[in-house]
This record gives sequence, structure tokens and C-alpha cells, in this order.
Amino acid sequence: MSKIEKALERAKKKRRHAGEKEPQAPALRAVPIVSEREPLYTHTKVIPPDRSHLEKHRLMTFLDDPMAMDSYNLLRTKLLERTRGQGHNTIMITSALDGEGKTITAINLAASMAREVKQTVLLVDTDLRKPMIQYYLGCNTEKGLSDYLRGEVPVADLLINPGLANMVVLPGGKPLSGSTDILGSPKMERLVEEMKRRYPERYVIFDCPPVLVAPDALVFSSYVDGVVLVVESGRTPKDQIRKAIDLLEDKNIVGLVMNKGEKTQRRSYYYY
Ligand SMILES: Nc1ncnc2c1ncn2[C@@H]1O[C@H](COP(=O)(O)OP(=O)(O)OP(=O)(O)O)[C@@H](O)[C@H]1O
Ligand SMILES: [Mg+2]
Repeated sequence: MSKIEKALERAKKKRRHAGEKEPQAPALRAVPIVSEREPLYTHTKVIPPDRSHLEKHRLMTFLDDPMAMDSYNLLRTKLLERTRGQGHNTIMITSALDGEGKTITAINLAASMAREVKQTVLLVDTDLRKPMIQYYLGCNTEKGLSDYLRGEVPVADLLINPGLANMVVLPGGKPLSGSTDILGSPKMERLVEEMKRRYPERYVIFDCPPVLVAPDALVFSSYVDGVVLVVESGRTPKDQIRKAIDLLEDKNIVGLVMNKGEKTQRRSYYYY
């Protein structure tokens, strides 16, 4: 049994041990026509990133350049088309290998959703080995999901608003060793379920580690409705992409993002 299969098996046993049911496919439900706007976030800290920081980290969707936002808006539109009618609102971003652009894609996608559509967006840093969202957004916060999972801080005290009205971020906090077990724990599963159900119209985007480097993403993929796979154009070998897709075989892959393409001015492009 591979390392990844063992981790999946361990997560399964833990859930059984905690007397929890195996995750089921989400039930179909109608999307309400009237949007609920930010009912929870009234006391959320507002930390808008400064412009130079956003430019440095290619967070185009926070800037007012419609050309630069095109590819993320296309990704957003396609994802909404594929998920909305099914009541699918929890999406994780992963890749085969390190550094392919998952975190930048996750932030830009979340901001694109928050800017253009009626529902709100929650962006969660579930890369507990390397939590980077707080750094890319310049939040300078030390607390995040890892503090909640260790039982120390309620989620409501950890949320940040990065200056866009409909977007809230749950940073990762301090890096954790043993992140696979923590991410696969019943407490994490319950949190994802709660995030999914609280506002059915809200999208929740999870920035995850790469599939082939650690078991975390694969374990976590059982909790979400859909997976977006980011591929660094021209760098990731085809066999590694194939391996990642094979590992996610029984999961709902809702999109493939080709990132950092040379001919495309290093933008992202979206494919099924
Ligand atoms: N479209 C792009 N064009 C150029 N550089 C990019 C692009 N997307 C991401 N990068 C850069 O690539 C690096 C890795 O990006 P990012 O942190 O988003 O990757 P990641 O897949 O989340 O990495 P990790 O596996 O370490 O979590 C960063 O320096 C980022 O600025
Ligand atoms: Mg990352």
C-alpha cells in the first residue's frame, strides 16, 4: 500500500472511530434567487493589501485591470457553470507538484468570484505545511486554521476581510507538522461541512498542497464537491499530471488551469 493510500485508510478509520458516517455525495438542492450578503462577517478584521504587494504577487483580480483579469474571470464563469446547478460550493485547488501556482490561482479565483457575482466567497488556506495566503495578501497575521484545529481559537476570530466586500479569508496560521492527520481529522471534516451548509450560496475555495508531494490533498479531497488542478505549463511532466489525475480518479475534477504559459504572457488558462 502506498504512503498516500495508507493516509487515506487512516483518515477513514479515524472517521469510523469517531462514529462518523463516510462522506456522501452532496444532495441536489435549488440555489436561492436572493443572495444573503455577509451575514456573519460584521466583526471581521479588515486588512486591505497595498497595491505594490498585489502587483508583486500577481494578484490581478484585486487590481483594476480588466485585461489582466480575463483569464481568472473565465475560470470563474466556467466553474460556476459546472457547479452552481448541483449545489456544489466547496472547491479545492491542488496540483501535481510544488510551486505550480495553486495559491496565486486560489486567491485570484476567490477575488474574481467576490468581485463579479452575487454570492460571497470564503478562501481557506488548507496548506498547513506551507500556509502562504496570509503572506501573499500581506496580512501579517500569525493565527489561522491551525489554531482552530488545535482547539485554541474560534473560526470567527480568525477571519480577515482583504478589502473586497464579498470576500473573507481564513489564513493558515503557523505551519503544522503532522498536517495530513490534522487535515483528515473529524474536526476538519465537520468544519468543511459547516462551511458548506451555513450559506449555500457562498463558495468556499480551499488552497491545498500538491497531490504527489504529500497525502494531505488526497485525504482532503473527500470533503469537497470539486477539485481544480493547476498545471505549470511547460514544466510539469505529462506522466506526473497523469499520476495526479489518476489519484483523483473518483473525485469531481471540475477544471484544469494551465498556469505560467510563455506564449500567454504568463497568464492562466482554463481547460476541462
Ligand atoms: N501565472 C504566473 N506567472 C508567473 N509567475 C507565477 C504565476 N503564478 C504563480 N507564479 C509564481 O510562482 C511561484 C509559486 O506560486 P504559488 O505559491 O501560487 O504556487 P503553489 O503551487 O501554491 O506553491 P506551493 O506548492 O509551494 O504551495 C510564486 O513565486 C508565484 O509568484
Ligand atoms: Mg501554495
